[in-house]
Amino acid sequence: MSTTQIFKNPRAQHNFQGRTCSITAVGSYVPERIMTNADMEKIVDTTDEWITTRTGIKERRIAAENEFTSDMAAKAAQRAMERAGVTAAQIDLIIVATITPDMMFPSTACLVQSKIGAKRAAAFDIEAACSGFIYAMEIGQQFIMSRTYETVLIIGAERLSSIVDWKDRNTCVLFGDGAGAAILQHRPDAHGLLTACMGADGDKAMLLCMPGGGSRIPATADSVEAGLHHLQMDGKETFKNAVNAMMSAATEALRRCEIDITQIKLVIPHQANRRIIDAVTERLKVKPDQVFVNLDKYGNTSAASVAIALDEAVQQNRLQRGDLALLVVFGAGLTWAAAVIEW
Ligand code: UT7
Repeated sequence: MSTTQIFKNPRAQHNFQGRTCSITAVGSYVPERIMTNADMEKIVDTTDEWITTRTGIKERRIAAENEFTSDMAAKAAQRAMERAGVTAAQIDLIIVATITPDMMFPSTACLVQSKIGAKRAAAFDIEAACSGFIYAMEIGQQFIMSRTYETVLIIGAERLSSIVDWKDRNTCVLFGDGAGAAILQHRPDAHGLLTACMGADGDKAMLLCMPGGGSRIPATADSVEAGLHHLQMDGKETFKNAVNAMMSAATEALRRCEIDITQIKLVIPHQANRRIIDAVTERLKVKPDQVFVNLDKYGNTSAASVAIALDEAVQQNRLQRGDLALLVVFGAGLTWAAAVIEW
């Protein structure tokens, strides 16, 4: 499909007078250990029935004791690199999106750089919670379009099991660990990222946060005792904001490309809650077989979520080269983003 076939809107075409940015390949990794809803019933006052009907989650993956965010990120990256036929020496930049870095500093991206041996690459983390992978994609695209870099590795990776409160049934049943990665390059015969729109609302920062561990509340015996180093969420308010923000981001992304939802082969939403996915996709008038869902297996893996879903969609042949996909995400910040990609 040519750029002019896709874009009737001259403003959208303007982006492509520079250089396009394609997703050469994707890869993902999830830890081996599976924690089912039945396992959850043994540690908090919950039931498989509640978790399934309220969220759609059946099980999640939990990292091994000695398996950290950078380990999962490096494994996902290596899978994407192999599929892209890209060597570590070719990578110019590594961007890791995460809210569960190995440590406050240095960045997880630097640890990944060392693990995969990408000696030439610059490396930094970004923090946009569950929206991080699309934020990273948009940032990576800018470097490719401006001809600053040829090959950018973007990763969404999380070890949420290390920050959830395993005594809080409101949150611990929702989250899981994993990583997804993509190689961004210019490919003359393809478009890749057609548009991405990102948004944020810092006024609602406290709806979903981890209050402790930063400069405001450094770790003390009291802060640990008060549970301030755990993820905290107002579920109901977050839910409402998620539906509205994902809906408007998706609509805006389609508008910018001047395409109709019927032209989208697959919608790949952030995998937080089946009811959020259903509410958003019903309003967008998406047919059920046009929506990719894997949260039953992994729960909410924050920045890794849409990246793992994109990889699985590709491996399951739900997307063929040339197909259009709509990625739409929402997370703490609040942050949100939607991207239309030509796979
Ligand atoms: O990834 C970033 C964004 N995150 C999200 O988008 C998540 C957004 N929020 C949600 O997905 C949903 O709000 C939840 C799944 C977190 C909660 O669903 P809800 O329908 O909003 O339930 P609720 O918070 O209204 O809780 C209903 C009841 C409460 O009991 P009472 O007060 O009505 O007696 C909770 O205590 O369900 C209870 N409850 C549970 N019961 C069994 C909460 N968690 C559990 C549990 N098992 N795990």
